[in-house]
Parts: sequence; C-alpha cells; structure tokens
Amino acid sequence: MDVIITSEHENPGSIAADAIARLVDRQPDAVLGLATGSSPLSIYADLADRVAAGTLSLARVRGFMLDEYVGLPADHPERYRNVIDRDLVSRTDLDPALVQGPDGLAADIPAACAAYEDAIHDAGGVDLQILGIGADGHIGFNEPGSSLGSRTRIKTLTRQTREDNARFFDGDIDAVPAHCLTQGIATIMEARRIVLVAVGQGKAEAVHHLVEGSISALWPATVLQMHPAVTVILDAASASRLQLAEYYRQTRAGRPAWQQ
Ligand code: F6R
Repeated sequence: MDVIITSEHENPGSIAADAIARLVDRQPDAVLGLATGSSPLSIYADLADRVAAGTLSLARVRGFMLDEYVGLPADHPERYRNVIDRDLVSRTDLDPALVQGPDGLAADIPAACAAYEDAIHDAGGVDLQILGIGADGHIGFNEPGSSLGSRTRIKTLTRQTREDNARFFDGDIDAVPAHCLTQGIATIMEARRIVLVAVGQGKAEAVHHLVEGSISALWPATVLQMHPAVTVILDAASASRLQLAEYYRQTRAGRPAWQQ
C-alpha cells in the first residue's frame, strides 16, 4: 500500500487525477471505477480542468459507478447516477452512454446486480477504481460486517452512514434511503489499481484501521491491505492517527522523481 500524506499546499485530488491522466494517456479507452460523495470531488474538478485545457480527453473512457441508492426516483438530485452526471460527466467529455451504475430502481434487484457484475466483466474489468472511505470504514457501501468475498448486492446502510449523508438531503436522515446497491468487496478488489482519497479528522479512525489495522469485516476497507496496487492519498488530519506517518512521509520524499 502506497500511503501519500499531502502537505497543506497540495491537493489530494490532483495527485489522484495525475494517476488517472497517466492511465488514460496510455490507454484512452480505460475503465474507471467511479465513487460519489465528497472525497472524489477534487479529483473530478481537476479532471474537468484538464479536459477544458485540452490536455486530457475522457471521450473513450468507460465508467462503472460503485453504488446507488435503492428507490430514489430517476430525477432525484441525490440519485448517484445524477450526482455523477453533475459532478463529472457534464463537466468533461465523458460519454454518458459509457457510464453505468447499479440500477437502484430495478424490479428484480438480484438480477440487476448480476447484470452489473456481467457488465463490468464484459468491459474487461476496472483499470482504476476511485474510492472514498466511510467514517465506519466502508468502501462502496460495504458496511461493517460485509463479506470480504461479496459481489454487487443490496445492503442496508448503517445509521452512521445515513447520518453522514444526511447533509446531502437537507440534514434529514429520514430522507436518506435505508438501502443501496453496491459493488461487493470482491468486485472492488478485482480492479487492477485502486486510488483512495480521504480528508478530514472524521476519517482518521477509519484510515488508521485501513492502513495499519487488522484485516476484519468490522472495518471493510482493511481488505485493501491484500490488494497489490493501492494508493491512499490523505491530508494531515485524516492521517493523524497513523503510527508510521513519519515513515510514509520519508518514503515519499525519498522516491525517485519518476515514481512521485
Ligand atoms: C460513494 C461511496 C462511499 C463514499 C464514502 C465517503 O460512492 O461509495 O463509500 O466514498 O461514504 O463519503 P464522502 O466522500 O462523502 O465522505
């Protein structure tokens, strides 16, 4: 696991966007795994700037969203498909037809989840998965207790997650759906590369477990310790509980320029 603790002058999103831009440069039809929520916003803003400046094109990139609320109407502004259209697709040259998410309005949820797994597989798998992390250690919406071998399925959101996400629903926790469809942990682990961004003190405990804790379904993100190509990009606050923070900083400073 590559742990990058950014300085206050750095933008974690730009570091993640660099990795995405390098990938798309090599492979213009790369498959990206797309997270929603606050964490990826700085990545998406940076990608939008690069597309506007003409230094990057996402026109052939395919995107697979991590998760979707169950039951939110198609035109609801917080439906994740609408969020990703607003935060990323509409601000870049991504083709909306090449972006897919789990169908939170499907009549047959298990069939929709299986179809989503097939779609990812048929696209050749995810080349680079963008992740945030929940304060309770979830990735995607794989809440504590999720099977580390899980595939795309329906999950019940924890009260903590619904409280955290109430800020997108005018502070009303009852407006936050109780269920979601999420890529499973095994689905996420199949991505060839994973870039996780976490900022703020509220993520410090989850980041501590993610990087230095024991692998456990209680802190689902800890499974990423088993993935061979994970980059975790942190600010000082989210890194504040890391025991080896100094070592991660030294490692980064001592890296050859081509690896920065
Ligand atoms: C969103 C997702 C979640 C979020 C996590 C952190 O698609 O899968 O795992 O990444 O809840 O949310 P933010 O970034 O809003 O703090």
